[in-house]
Amino acid sequence: MTHALLHPFSLPAMAEEDFVDIVRGEGSLVFDADGKDYVDGMANLWLCQVGHGRAEIVDAVTTQMHQIEAYNTFAPFTNGPAARVAEMIVERSPHPDGRTFLGCSGSEAVDTALKLARLLQQRRGTEGRQVVIKRTNGYHGTNFGGTSAQGIAPNREGWGDLVPHFLEVPHDDLEAVASIFADHGERIAAVLTEPVQGAGGVFPPVDGYLQGLRRLCDDNGALLIFDEVICGFGRTGEWFGAQTFDVAPDMITFAKGVTSGYLPLSGVIVSRSLCEELEEPGFLLRTGYTYSGHQASCAAGIANLQIMTDEGLDRRANHVGEKLREGLSALQADGLIESWRGMGAVYAAELGRDSIPVRNDILEGGVIVRPIGTCLAICPPLVITDEEVGRIIDTMASALR
Ligand SMILES: Cc1ncc(COP(=O)(O)O)c(C=O)c1O
Repeated sequence: MTHALLHPFSLPAMAEEDFVDIVRGEGSLVFDADGKDYVDGMANLWLCQVGHGRAEIVDAVTTQMHQIEAYNTFAPFTNGPAARVAEMIVERSPHPDGRTFLGCSGSEAVDTALKLARLLQQRRGTEGRQVVIKRTNGYHGTNFGGTSAQGIAPNREGWGDLVPHFLEVPHDDLEAVASIFADHGERIAAVLTEPVQGAGGVFPPVDGYLQGLRRLCDDNGALLIFDEVICGFGRTGEWFGAQTFDVAPDMITFAKGVTSGYLPLSGVIVSRSLCEELEEPGFLLRTGYTYSGHQASCAAGIANLQIMTDEGLDRRANHVGEKLREGLSALQADGLIESWRGMGAVYAAELGRDSIPVRNDILEGGVIVRPIGTCLAICPPLVITDEEVGRIIDTMASALR
C-alpha cells in the first residue's frame, strides 16, 4: 500500500497497512477490505444518525449533481437546496425565526461563530469585548479559533501562538464562570460550550449548569454559543441539546449529524435578534466559504433530515440510550468497568486505565468504540437495533474479561 496519506489525529510513523480499511457500510455495520463486519459503535465519528448505505440520500445527491454539483452563494448568487436545508434546520431548532450560515466542517462552524460573536459585540460599540470563556474538556475543532477554544490541553500545544482572549474554566464549575464575569464582565464577548461535552470524554452538564450560563450571559451582555456538532440532530433525544436542556443559546454550531456524513455540511444557527443586528441596511458580512451552501451537500442534508423526521430518529436516542444504559450498568455490576456516564445516545465507559489496548481487543471482536484517555466512548447510529447494542456490550465484556 502507498504511504502518501497523512492521517488526522494519528501517529505519522504508523504504516498505512496497519490502518483498518473500511470499504462498505450498511445500517449500523461497516465492513473492512477483508469482508469482516464491525458494529459501528461510534456512528463513524459521532455522526451517522441514519446509518450507512441509505439509498435515499445517495439518490438525492445524484439527482442534484446531474443538475449542478455546486455553485457558490456569495452575493448575488443563491440556490434552492441551500435555502431549503437552512429552513429545515431552523424549523427544528429553538430559533425557528432565526437564520443559518453554512460551511463544511464543525471547525469552520466554530470559527465562524467565534467571529460572529466578536463582530456583533464590536458593532454594538463594545470594542473591549473580545474574551471568550471556554471549558476544560471542551473540543471545538482544529482551526485556529477552535484550537484556541480547546479545553483539551494537548490539542492546543505545539502550534505556536494561538488566538488571544480565551479564558478557561473547570468544566463543571459555574461559580468559576460567575467569578470571571465579576472580574471581567465588560470584556466578555461570549461563552462557548458543548451541551454534553463529547470528544473530551463525554460529560453531561451538572444540574442547572447550562441555565446558569444563560443567566450569567444575560446579566452581563455576553452571547451564549452552544457547540452542537455532536449533540445536534437527535443525539440527546431532541433535535438539539438546547431543547433537551431547555436553554436557548444565541448561536448554535452544527455539522456531522446534519447529513449523517454522506457529504460534508456544517453551519451556525443565529437567533432572530442577532440576525436583526446583522440585517442593518448596507452592512456587508465579510466571512464565508467557497463551499457555503454547496448544492450536493445541501441535498444530502435535506434527504437526511427528511429520513430522520419520517422515522422519528430525532427522539430515538431515548430508546437507544435505555438499552446502552442497561448494558453499561451490567458491565459495572460485573466489575468490568469502574463507571459510566452519558445521556441520550452518547456514553463513556470509565475503565480507570489506558483504554487503547481494550479498544484494540474490542475492534478485533468486531465492534468499534473510541478510546479517550481512560474511557471508551460509544455513540452509535440512531437506527441501531437492540441486538446490535447487545453485540457492543457482549464484545466489550469479553474484551474486558
Ligand atoms: C463539539 C465539536 N465541535 C467541533 C468539532 C469539529 O468538527 P470537524 O472535525 O468537522 O471540523 C467537533 C468534532 O468532533 C466537535 O465534536
